[in-house]
Amino acid sequence: MFVSMSMLLLSSSVAMTLAVTNTTTASSTSPISSPMFQLSSDAEFAFILEEYLSLANNQGANTGEVLRIAAQIVPGDYESFYLAFYEMAERIHTIAEGVSLSKDPVGVREAHFRAASYYRGADFFLHGNWSDPRIYTLWEQQLTSFNKAIALLEPVPGGRFSVQTHSDNVGDYDVIGVFYKALECNDSLPTILVGNGYDGAQEESYHSACVEILKRGVNCVTYEGPGQPTVRREQNIGFIPDWWTAASPVMDYLSARPDVDMSKVALVGVSFGGTLAPRAASQDDRYSAVVAIDGLKSIQQVIEQQLPDELMALFNSTNSTAFDQVFTYIQGDDTYPTEFRWLIDWSLFAFKTHSAYDWFSRLGDITMSKEIVANLTMPVFVAKGQDDTLTLQEPEQAYKMLTTQRANGEALTHWHEFNTSLGAGEHCSIGAEAQLWQVVMEWLSGVWGDVSYANSERH
Ligand SMILES: *[C@@H]1O[C@H](CO)[C@@H](O)[C@H](O)[C@H]1NC(C)=O
Ligand SMILES: *[C@@H]1O[C@H](CO)[C@@H](O)[C@H](O)[C@H]1NC(C)=O
Ligand SMILES: *[C@@H]1O[C@H](CO)[C@@H](O)[C@H](O)[C@H]1NC(C)=O
Ligand SMILES: *[C@@H]1O[C@H](CO)[C@@H](O)[C@H](O)[C@H]1NC(C)=O
Ligand SMILES: *[C@@H]1O[C@H](CO)[C@@H](O)[C@H](O)[C@H]1NC(C)=O
Ligand SMILES: *[C@@H]1O[C@H](CO)[C@@H](O)[C@H](O)[C@H]1NC(C)=O
Ligand SMILES: *[C@@H]1O[C@H](CO)[C@@H](O)[C@H](O)[C@H]1NC(C)=O
Repeated sequence: MFVSMSMLLLSSSVAMTLAVTNTTTASSTSPISSPMFQLSSDAEFAFILEEYLSLANNQGANTGEVLRIAAQIVPGDYESFYLAFYEMAERIHTIAEGVSLSKDPVGVREAHFRAASYYRGADFFLHGNWSDPRIYTLWEQQLTSFNKAIALLEPVPGGRFSVQTHSDNVGDYDVIGVFYKALECNDSLPTILVGNGYDGAQEESYHSACVEILKRGVNCVTYEGPGQPTVRREQNIGFIPDWWTAASPVMDYLSARPDVDMSKVALVGVSFGGTLAPRAASQDDRYSAVVAIDGLKSIQQVIEQQLPDELMALFNSTNSTAFDQVFTYIQGDDTYPTEFRWLIDWSLFAFKTHSAYDWFSRLGDITMSKEIVANLTMPVFVAKGQDDTLTLQEPEQAYKMLTTQRANGEALTHWHEFNTSLGAGEHCSIGAEAQLWQVVMEWLSGVWGDVSYANSERH
């Protein structure tokens, strides 16, 4: 998930002094005046808290724990966000370590899954200072807990793998993934490869996607490439445009497994993954389908629409020094809206650059361009959350391109809007995972020749 820009109203009248809508305006927002009930008067905190609350739908959190965390967070205060999540993470971790593995493996697994989520939550707003050791220690903690949890999955433990690959942009690197096998037998099964987006971790995808997929007897695989949370930290590389160098080696790995039906592999991209997945599939026709949750032609375009003209003019003038100065200033001033400050902090980290100009330029190379679309030969599902303030009209634009700018586009492209009236209108329909996956899996059944799914309810 990336940033909600709805509060980012940089005034275009004040050239380069960049007055912003005061965050105190946001504080007076009523939680019930929003499409979804808000757990913080800070719009960005509210969105991230909603994300963690939604993990409770599939064993990644418990509602009471998240509501308790939310009660301790001060709007706009990153340290309070960290502390509330961290203290809960530590206490749930202590519980996990205290439960007898032989007597109650379910208790151990569930507590480790939740501790892992809360360690990730603690990390979320800490990326402005790359020397902050917590960026790495929290991640170690979340990975350790998560790995203990997936080792206890039934009927088959989740298994990590890594595959060597090469990008002309960053050289050799390893894609890291997790394979979740749906059934104990070695029959070749339909398989869904899930890639997260701008900031989400593959560990989160287990709860938000894989649990729903596995219940139906379909294998689920997650992976991360450059710029994404673990690869960024462990291999020190940022986002790349040649995303197929991350996804295709995973396909090679899957093709060597007897339990994967290579004629039924779908590639799912969540959030920024809605751009990355089509990019990957444009160079690899082994995917039987691509699912963009949600459709996203260009994040750069979304951000550009919300920046003042003066700032875009500065970008266009290619004066990187001046452009960088503005962003550095905003990063250091906590009267600017959290969503904008977070976007800068995280973007620079994820692209591994200290220059906002460098980040914004490179962001423009990672889009769903005409060339990418023309090369997509498989069915593509485009989702939209009705009240998604993060992607604006991007899903509509993506859908239009996919229907009109490739061969047989009308027949090959499917559109679905998830509605606020059903609680599914948030970015990526977070919180309504049952609705989202019912619809996606129904569509995939059709793509895969009307397959019927198993009913293999897991824990
Ligand atoms: C924001 O609003 C508060 C309260 O009205 C005010 O004290 C503060 O100076 C304002 N900050 C900015 C940057 O305008
Ligand atoms: C960044 O974090 C390091 C380690 O905690 C600290 O020593 C340093 O002062 C911080 N830098 C800034 C600019 O806050
Ligand atoms: C599935 O295949 C793996 C590796 O080839 C093997 O170790 C395992 O015993 C097989 N499982 C079943 C249920 O046949
Ligand atoms: C289209 O796909 C082919 C093979 O899948 C690849 O060689 C080619 O570079 C792709 N073209 C573009 C513009 O991505
Ligand atoms: C910046 O350049 C883009 C692309 O050429 C153009 O569409 C846009 O209008 C320009 N914006 C400003 C404020 O100059
Ligand atoms: C770029 O911006 C900097 C800082 O605002 C300014 O000092 C410099 O003269 C500008 N460079 C050009 C080539 O306009
Ligand atoms: C969502 O809303 C649209 C527009 O109001 C409507 O056409 C559609 O049927 C709704 N979808 C569902 C699943 O209710």
